[in-house]
Amino acid sequence: MKRIFSGIQPSGNLTLGNYLGAIRNWVALQQERSYDCIFCVVDQHAITVPQDPAVLRQATREVAAGMIASGIDPGDCILFNQSQVPEQAMLAWVFNCVARLGWLNRMTQFKERAGKNRDNATVGLYVYPVLMAADILAYKGTHVPVGDDQKQHLELSRDIAQAYNSMFGVDFFPLPEPQILGAATRVMSLRDGTKKMSKSDPSDMSRINMTDDADTIAQKIRRAKTDPEPLPSEVAGLEGRPEVRNLVGVYAALSDQSMDDVLSEFGGKGFGDFKKALSEVAVDVLGPIGAEMKRLSADPGYVDGVLAKGGSRARAIAGPIVAEVYDTVGFLRPNG
Ligand code: TYM
Repeated sequence: MKRIFSGIQPSGNLTLGNYLGAIRNWVALQQERSYDCIFCVVDQHAITVPQDPAVLRQATREVAAGMIASGIDPGDCILFNQSQVPEQAMLAWVFNCVARLGWLNRMTQFKERAGKNRDNATVGLYVYPVLMAADILAYKGTHVPVGDDQKQHLELSRDIAQAYNSMFGVDFFPLPEPQILGAATRVMSLRDGTKKMSKSDPSDMSRINMTDDADTIAQKIRRAKTDPEPLPSEVAGLEGRPEVRNLVGVYAALSDQSMDDVLSEFGGKGFGDFKKALSEVAVDVLGPIGAEMKRLSADPGYVDGVLAKGGSRARAIAGPIVAEVYDTVGFLRPNG
């Protein structure tokens, strides 16, 4: 059986990076109908850094609304928030006792996020990738569509699955495959082409939010950093021009073209025309999604109902898988 699991943190606004690197691909995979799809708003991951409880609740609803507005169909797949399924955290504890410190010490995202003040980072932030492995494997997920920045975490998930299987002499967990798809697997900041576009960047001008209105999108694109040269006519000409490469990649992804196609249209031209075309396509794609998000957010009862139903469907799958793990590791349980 092919089962997709993927997740997104409710820790700020959804960005164009989340959309192009993840959500849009999830919608396409769901529509293929060859996978069983499970999508999760990972609220337990969000608290690895401080969160205001009321804001977290609101962001959880908003991210779920963003997924539904983008085309995730809660009738076709399971959509829920992580904390509704305690089995993922239960499995994470077992995996904490399988994963090695050396493996976690290599995680570049922890180093980036903890920064210089490492001793002050939470233990949760450090073991974050272990919980991520548990998220996927509590469902025996086989495929994980994500943006490029999650690649190293998925390698760790594979190492944990393999280590568990060999520790207990079983062939229980699949080794989940990353699916890093599309022309914009790593959307960069509009202000600095060497930094990932991120919902946690302090500058709102660095990103396009899925709820930005048309004027805001146009303004952010107009002010996006470029350089004085015209656009190149070939992809090779993007070398050493990270901001330009990023905008061309975003345009290609939003308009379903290759970067070559984009450059054959805009090569040799200045950024005025190109930025105008980019704003138009971004508004065409994001405008209706943003409007639907606002509509859904006005009805929190609907979104809460979807997440509750998704949570109980998810538990029905994860429950027996994690019960079998608890039995395998030797935990004595009633009726077990
Ligand atoms: P998160 O919340 O940072 O991002 C959610 C998804 O969006 C992708 N993404 C991007 N893709 C391209 N360019 C960008 N600038 C960009 N920013 C974000 C991410 O790659 C991701 O696919 N650890 C995960 C959440 C998670 C998870 C999981 C994912 C928890 N458990 C299990 C898969 C499976 C995270 O922080 O994603």
